[in-house]
Amino acid sequence: MSHHLPKKSQSFWIDSTSASNYPSLTQNISVDVAIVGGGLVGISAAKLLKQAGKTVAVLEAEQVAAGVSGHTTAKISSLHQLIYADLIKQHGEEKARLYGESNQAALEQYASLIQSEQIDCDFERKDIYTFAASLDNLDKIKAEYEAAVKLGLPASFVQQTGLPFEIAGAVKFTNQAQFHPRKFVLHLAKTIQGEGSYIFEQTRVKTVEGEQPCKIIAENGCIVTAQDVIVATNLPILDQGLYFAKAYPKRSYLIGAWIDPAKDPQGMFIGSGQDYHSIRTTPHEGKTLLLIGGKGHKVGEVDDTEVLYKQLADYAYSTFEVEEIAYRWSTQDMVSFDQLPYIGKLTPMNNHTYVATGFSLWGMSKSMMSAMILSDLILGKENPWANLYDSTRPTPFVTQESIKKNLDVGMHWVGDRLKGLLDSPEKVGIDEGKVVTVNGDKIGAYRDESGTLHQVSAVCSHLGCIVSWNPAEKSWDCPCHGARFNCEGEVIQAPAVSDLKKY
Ligand SMILES: Cc1cc2nc3c(=O)[nH]c(=O)nc-3n(C[C@H](O)[C@H](O)[C@H](O)COP(=O)(O)OP(=O)(O)OC[C@H]3O[C@@H](n4cnc5c(N)ncnc54)[C@H](O)[C@@H]3O)c2cc1C
Ligand code: FES
Repeated sequence: MSHHLPKKSQSFWIDSTSASNYPSLTQNISVDVAIVGGGLVGISAAKLLKQAGKTVAVLEAEQVAAGVSGHTTAKISSLHQLIYADLIKQHGEEKARLYGESNQAALEQYASLIQSEQIDCDFERKDIYTFAASLDNLDKIKAEYEAAVKLGLPASFVQQTGLPFEIAGAVKFTNQAQFHPRKFVLHLAKTIQGEGSYIFEQTRVKTVEGEQPCKIIAENGCIVTAQDVIVATNLPILDQGLYFAKAYPKRSYLIGAWIDPAKDPQGMFIGSGQDYHSIRTTPHEGKTLLLIGGKGHKVGEVDDTEVLYKQLADYAYSTFEVEEIAYRWSTQDMVSFDQLPYIGKLTPMNNHTYVATGFSLWGMSKSMMSAMILSDLILGKENPWANLYDSTRPTPFVTQESIKKNLDVGMHWVGDRLKGLLDSPEKVGIDEGKVVTVNGDKIGAYRDESGTLHQVSAVCSHLGCIVSWNPAEKSWDCPCHGARFNCEGEVIQAPAVSDLKKY
């Protein structure tokens, strides 16, 4: 079955808001706290710190909320598909309880900020469900329900939902929320600018030096001097904490389809098992857009990314009464090997450089939680969850999964060097991207629709892995730690800070 899909990848959240237009950094400045990255972590932390009386400067490489936070599904919840039964097993009941409590607290922090700042961002309280479509995963659903109840979370086990198909069972959390993430960030950003605090866009940070004070150095050489710095670039651009080795990048896909508002399934849903789907709706000018996500994979590991959108479209048409698919987009997040995000100091040696990463595709609550923890650490306040998420904790490199994923990176480093050995630029067809070899060099060659060939070095500017072409997003994606570049080689995703060399 083949369904019409929009030609270009475009996030609904970005398309339904106007572009932000903050200036770039053109001179050296000094603030209390510098924040690198203007996604949900960066802007939320900037807001809490400014509220507490600090001056802040957010330095964003592109536009605020146009990275992962501008491409998410934006369910704010403490039900993270299936996690609590596992957390209890892996980390014990007390830590699992703190995990639930901290995510619930972050959800309430959103509600209170949205209320106090009167933020018009389609924030709605909704119930959320993790369901088993068949009997296969029912045991896991029941175990999750039992674990969640034990931890005092608002869980119940149900067999009826608003979905237009039968399910075997679901764990449901009441009074969770959904919102429009970009409307939220754009509103908060406006309240940060001014009184000695700044937001800069189109300002890529190259590195951070020293801690007394911290010097945040932008690509154009301008420097922000600050007592503390939060690196909120999704995966830190600073390599010292080895976060690129403590988590792996997972890319996932979304489509947005108009449906009859009367057919709204009234809730937020995610399936279980291998090929699960994430489902929610969002209101837009009296209409209802159904968002369906899924088809996740490790970055750089699927050659035909287009086909994944087609599979999502098939699912949407066969499951819901879809009128038209108006949007499709994809994005990626870092998955932590021990299921807990890393929130805290860059390394045990750092006292003023902070990071937040490893949200494992549940970063709405965890972004706000990071903002709460990091602002408390900077303000010298006790925080009940800081220990649990301590970013310098020993990392369990020894779990089977982490060994496999790290092995994958090693294999990419070596194996991908054979990519394109026998291919040359002449073999690259219209609208095709390929790694080819020219005079012994690995080149990423993309021929656009007008026949022009764009050639860049295929060696990732982060740590030297070989990038792969992503046909759906028209980007070069690095399978090692998830850096991405456009067809001209310009960085579009951390941890890289430099472009691919033009060839
Ligand atoms: C498909 C998908 C669906 C998801 N759905 C949900 C959901 O429903 N619920 C949920 O809880 N979570 C969800 N998540 C996870 C969530 O979206 C992310 O965890 C969260 O948005 C991450 O926010 P962030 O601030 O870390 O990253 P970002 O929003 O990416 O912010 C980082 C910013 O740093 C900037 N930057 C990078 N390098 C530099 C540099 N050198 N200098 C300056 N700036 C730089 C980037 O441009 C970017 O704007 C989903 C994730 C995916 C992949
Ligand atoms: S992202 Fe690390 S080598 Fe490419």
